[in-house]
Amino acid sequence: MKLVFATQNKNKIDEVRALFPANISLLSLTDIGCNEDIPETGKTLEENAILKANYITHNFGYPCFADDTGLIVEALNGAPGVYSARYAGKSRDANANMDKLLKELKHAKDRKAQFETVIALNLNEEQHIFKGEIEGKIINKKRGEQGFGYDPVFIPNGYSKTFAELPLEIKNNISHRGLAIQKLITYLNNLGQDEERS
Ligand code: IMP
Repeated sequence: MKLVFATQNKNKIDEVRALFPANISLLSLTDIGCNEDIPETGKTLEENAILKANYITHNFGYPCFADDTGLIVEALNGAPGVYSARYAGKSRDANANMDKLLKELKHAKDRKAQFETVIALNLNEEQHIFKGEIEGKIINKKRGEQGFGYDPVFIPNGYSKTFAELPLEIKNNISHRGLAIQKLITYLNNLGQDEERS
C-alpha cells in the first residue's frame, strides 16, 4: 500500500520511514509532485492536520496522513499553540520565536508547558486521529545545539536536559510526535494483521 506523509520536511519523512511496517511504502509530497504550500488556516492543531490530509486525498487521490504540532504554555493561556511556527512572525524563525517566548515569560513563575501533536489519517474512506503529548517546562535561557524549533528552551518532566541536549533517540522515544507516530504505526500494524487473517 502507498501512503503519503503530507510534509515537506525530509527529516520527518526519514525518521518515520525507518519505523514503518514493510508492507507500506511511504511517499513524500515531492514523490507525488506536490510542491504547493498547503494552507494551514485552522484554529486548532486537529483542524490543521485534517486540512492538510484532506488536501492531499482530495487533490491527489492518495491515502494520506498529516501532522500538526504546537507548544502550549500555561502562563500564556495556551500560546503559542497553533501559531507556534509563526509566533514571532511570518519568517518562521526558531530563534526569534524562542526570544519572544523567553521575553513573554520573563517574570513568570509558572513555567509549565507541553508539546502536542495531532495526526490525521485518511485511509479506506475513513479518517482517524492520533495524538501525542509531553509535559515539561520552559527554562530561561537556550541550552543545546540539537533538534529544532523550541527544543533549546524545553525540558521534559523527569529530565534535566533540554530537548536540544538529549540524544535524538531519547527525544524521539518520549516526544509528542514520537508518541503520536507510535499510535499511528500500531494502528497500521493491526490493520495489516487483520488483512492477513481475512
Ligand atoms: P509542525 O506542525 O511539526 O511544523 O510544528 C509547528 C512548530 O512547532 C514548529 O515550527 C516548531 O516551532 C514547533 N515544534 C514542533 N515540533 C517540535 C519539536 O519537536 N521541538 C521543538 N519545537 C517543535
